[in-house]
Amino acid sequence: MRHFLDLATPGKAALRAILDEAHRRKAARAGKPRGAVDDDAPLAGHVLAMIFEKPSTRTRFSFDVGIRQLGGTSIVTSSSDMQLGRGETVADTARVLSRFVDAIMIRTAAHETVEGLAEFGSLPVINGLTDLSHPCQAMADLMTVEERLGQSVEGTCWAWVGDGNNMAHSLIEAASVMGFDLKLGVPHGYDPDQAVMATACARGGSIDVVRSAVAAVEGAKVVVTDTWVSMGQADTKDKASAMKPFAVTPLLMSKAAEGAVFLHCLPAHRGEEVLDQVIDGPASAVWDEAENRLHVQKAIMLWCLGKIG
Ligand code: CP
Ligand code: NVA
Repeated sequence: MRHFLDLATPGKAALRAILDEAHRRKAARAGKPRGAVDDDAPLAGHVLAMIFEKPSTRTRFSFDVGIRQLGGTSIVTSSSDMQLGRGETVADTARVLSRFVDAIMIRTAAHETVEGLAEFGSLPVINGLTDLSHPCQAMADLMTVEERLGQSVEGTCWAWVGDGNNMAHSLIEAASVMGFDLKLGVPHGYDPDQAVMATACARGGSIDVVRSAVAAVEGAKVVVTDTWVSMGQADTKDKASAMKPFAVTPLLMSKAAEGAVFLHCLPAHRGEEVLDQVIDGPASAVWDEAENRLHVQKAIMLWCLGKIG
């Protein structure tokens, strides 16, 4: 059974196959209406369950449009509308959904919920964001960088600035699996998870935490940030003041490598982690990055269902 819970387990060959499929399918359907099915309709007859415990715009729309473009259909629900929301166990939910649908995409707080569905179901489970990680978004980031730089991500130099959060964790895993350098500029007290860092470094990744935004971006071809306050986190004055020197400004972008690309998974808090001049400026690839959620997730679904790789 192929699950997509993190970026370490599938391995480099699988991630490469997913990226290649996403690039190929994006090019193949250029100019088609958004709702048109891909010529080969590879998931005709398949149903994807999408379960949301937290809000979502990009993940919701891209998975829903994506499964339709592959010829399949979806059922979209919030966990509070399911018996899961009033105490039915994750294990029993997994067993029941396995009788109705072909795959589950879930966005939830506890990573253990995603792992539990995978353990007790008999169908692929896709992590659509947990407090620990956001692997689908990281795959869209890799795809976008390959488009912008016109080369594989392997050997490139990335900077993360801001909070050591779920997005940072997935990019740390991506760096260690795909083989690119990642410097994280993170204030004291907001480091990425130690276990995620240790596992990635043991895998051989060139991943460092530094205490200044400038030190993180120097030489980087890719600069990435995210909200300072993730869904479910406390918005404190202390955190805001610790994060302030890590805002992505035009001056900070000027310290990165020539032609550096700016990424943000969105939603952005303009004037906080990024200024308008950057997110709306020529270095920004954020709208392509958002669109690429669609293309990469189609490839993830195809990989999970054994159609590629
Ligand atoms: N980037 C991302 O996952 O966006 P949503 O929260 O809108 O799904
Ligand atoms: N780190 C953010 C990502 C949103 C897509 C959050 O978890 O809220």
